[in-house]
Amino acid sequence: MNTKPANSKLIQLVKLLRDGDYHDGNSLGETLDITRSAIWKMVKKLEGYGIKIDAIMGRGYIMSEPLYLLEPDVIKQAFAQRVELTVLESTPSTNNYFKLSPKTPAIKCCIAEHQTQGRGRLNRTWHSPFGKNLYLSCYHPLKKDLSELSGLSLVISLSIVSALRELGLTDSVFVKWPNDVLSNGKKIAGILIDVEAESHGGCDVTIGIGLNVNMFHNDELQSKSIDQAWTSMAEECGVAFDRSQVAVVLLQKLLDYIARFEEEGFGVFIDEWRSVDSLANKSIALNCINQIIEGSAAGIDQKGHLLLQLDDGTIRAFSSGDARLLKN
Ligand code: BTN
Repeated sequence: MNTKPANSKLIQLVKLLRDGDYHDGNSLGETLDITRSAIWKMVKKLEGYGIKIDAIMGRGYIMSEPLYLLEPDVIKQAFAQRVELTVLESTPSTNNYFKLSPKTPAIKCCIAEHQTQGRGRLNRTWHSPFGKNLYLSCYHPLKKDLSELSGLSLVISLSIVSALRELGLTDSVFVKWPNDVLSNGKKIAGILIDVEAESHGGCDVTIGIGLNVNMFHNDELQSKSIDQAWTSMAEECGVAFDRSQVAVVLLQKLLDYIARFEEEGFGVFIDEWRSVDSLANKSIALNCINQIIEGSAAGIDQKGHLLLQLDDGTIRAFSSGDARLLKN
């Protein structure tokens, strides 16, 4: 499998190049204690990942974009006690990574700089350019029956909203049932949960989160294949974010919210959901098992199912579906 661990020399090189100045191969090699040709190989590797680096004769290399690679030590320091953390340079999909690893009672997290086969909901592809966003999966054994998991994806959306608010996106962030996170009406994060029921009654879940951090629309290569309205933290705030810091805050919130869900169930999150529900009282079309049902979104029930008020006034609950806002 083409999974590669994070490469500390590559991370150091990017930190040196990030200042937007010229750096010659010899002095970069000296600083990193490697040869000039090893520097050249790493520059080629970054270019292969779509990162633009100019090489100017007599002056050296220059990288004009602010690239923040993940720093495994920074993230591990924050979580050493709570989870086993793996940081990868590249992998097909961080969710699939856990399908291939042995089951354990421990909580494990995997974050990658790049996914070659990132998966979205409803068989979509999740666009995963190198070094721009967060692609994170958390393997978590839960003391819960499969039937109790219906609210989990909503709880994960709330944990992302809470992280984004802490990171400075204060009033713009809302949830769209069942598990999209939007900023100013555009998708900023998505969630994909793989569940395996265990014979002893519990469930092993792999929670995958894709969070758009430093991806920009004017970077044509990065964005052209996305077919829905999207935004990123950098586009919303006008600055590039240090992705390790974002990962730390996100993981912290994620683990706290899951722990509370496991202890107290979904009911305690309903008020929080209401406060950030982007669909509330809006006319929507729900695409649900080959039929489209229109109505007015009326919040969620105790299980996290969507309540839809139909034209005849009745309210129906839906456990799954894809919602689209209708123009009034
Ligand atoms: C969606 O369609 O909204 C869900 C997107 C989930 C993407 C994340 S990125 C990390 C993890 N690995 C994957 O292959 N998918 C999820």
